[in-house]
Amino acid sequence: MTREETRRRFADGDTWFATSPLYRELSRAVAADDDLLDLAARSRSGQQPANMLMAAVHLLVLKDPSSALAAFYPSVVGHAAQPPGRAAAPFRQFCEAHLPALEAILQTRLVQTNVPNRGVAVRLGMREAARRTDGRVFFLEVGPSAGIQLLFDRWAVELGGRHFGPDPAPLTLAVEWRSSDPVPDLDDQPTVVGRIGVDLNPVDAGDSEERLWLKALVWPEHRARMAQLEQALAVVAAHPPRILAGDAIELLPSLGSRIPDTVPLVVFHAMVRIHVEESRQEAFDRAIEGLAARRRLLHVSLEAPGMDRPQGGSGHLLRFRDSAGEDVDLARADGHCTWIESLV
Ligand SMILES: C[S@@+](CC[C@H](N)C(=O)[O-])C[C@H]1O[C@@H](n2cnc3c(N)ncnc32)[C@H](O)[C@@H]1O
Repeated sequence: MTREETRRRFADGDTWFATSPLYRELSRAVAADDDLLDLAARSRSGQQPANMLMAAVHLLVLKDPSSALAAFYPSVVGHAAQPPGRAAAPFRQFCEAHLPALEAILQTRLVQTNVPNRGVAVRLGMREAARRTDGRVFFLEVGPSAGIQLLFDRWAVELGGRHFGPDPAPLTLAVEWRSSDPVPDLDDQPTVVGRIGVDLNPVDAGDSEERLWLKALVWPEHRARMAQLEQALAVVAAHPPRILAGDAIELLPSLGSRIPDTVPLVVFHAMVRIHVEESRQEAFDRAIEGLAARRRLLHVSLEAPGMDRPQGGSGHLLRFRDSAGEDVDLARADGHCTWIESLV
């Protein structure tokens, strides 16, 4: 990515980091600073430099809460955080002082933000699958990170005043229902006969360094989301789902012959395609579509409209594509699934 392309990503921080005042401020500062832009551009190919630089610094701040910069991070100092308007200069000094450590993080880590609330999108997709099939499916998630969504049926859901899922549950996902239509019955779910994930880099929820990276990817003001992530990861560590390591574009064609073809296959991905280099996104789509050769494919995706329109003004689209039936856009949601709006 050229410096000017990187600059545009940071200049778009007000949209991309809409719910993080600190990152909006820092994004503006980085967009005007060639040294910091060049540092961010050292992220691995295909990785979003703005997410990567913010998370890399956040990781070091979480590791050293005594640093001057930590005073600006609600994730470290809670409500006592300093106003973001004064954070730019300490941020720059911190980056200069930690250059080798930041470069090492940028060159090894990936954007792997695992958002428990996106499990509601899985439930909505599975409900549609239950209505269209005889009630048995195999579940494949592309890009599950640590695998929180692979365990979607372990979490309870509060949606529009209704409660779904196991009771008691180790975690409840509370999501706002933005629709005058009645809340769909999210207990209407198919039986999942098996499940598997495919990720470039499966995250081991049992490893404290890996958990800290996932925490660093959460924006510093989102303390409730961090607590939710920790709860979910504890369950994932105790019940690790099977996740194959590799690029879905290369793995899916051979995986297709190794998973059952006697039941429909639900393939789900959330915020994955947007992290695939643009030149490979069509191949990504084809690799998933190819799975329909042997069985009915129900392809459920929750993706941002595009890198230039991270929230698209109207949210991310929850799409349901059926190799043996009609395609439908089920809902819109914000990037972290704090709200969902029905489209059906
Ligand atoms: C932003 S995270 C989203 C994680 C999870 N889907 C969620 O919504 O909570 C994107 C994930 O996709 C994975 N990924 C990106 N490109 C991939 C590819 N070509 N094949 C498999 N996994 C990929 C990354 O490693 C990362 O774990």
